[in-house]
Amino acid sequence: MSSDSHIILLQPTVDVFEKRIAALEGGVAALAASSGQAAQFMTLAALCHSGDNIVSTTNLYGGTYNQFKVFLPRLGISCKFVNNEEPEELKKAIDDKTKAVYIESIGNPRYNVPDIEAIAKVAHEAGVPLVVSRRIPQLSPNKR
Ligand SMILES: Cc1ncc(COP(=O)(O)O)c(C=O)c1O
Repeated sequence: MSSDSHIILLQPTVDVFEKRIAALEGGVAALAASSGQAAQFMTLAALCHSGDNIVSTTNLYGGTYNQFKVFLPRLGISCKFVNNEEPEELKKAIDDKTKAVYIESIGNPRYNVPDIEAIAKVAHEAGVPLVVSRRIPQLSPNKR
């Protein structure tokens, strides 16, 4: 059975797209989703169980804010919102139930530009991943 014989498990065109996105970004892998809302939900559902939380900012796209404020709590996952993206403020909000730090770059609608490197350091020191929603393509530092 070839790897692309079952279209539900692996769609060859999507597979090529994902490999090319990963190569462009210098990542180890990519997963394509049909929308931003789907992508962020899949990511957080994979990282969190009921009783866990994520740490994020109020500088979010409205649909994302709603997903974090209203929908995720229905699944037992809460979001601890910080009113900015200051690394020290985000750090203070992380606790032993935090499974991810989530930001946008460039933020929607304020066009704020968080310090990804400093925030990643804070998240990684706490042992959790930093998830970044990027609606505006930016070349990874290693591709500039
Ligand atoms: C930063 C950000 N994240 C997520 C989304 C959601 O994307 P979608 O409308 O594809 O669900 C948007 C939409 O504009 C966005 O600006």
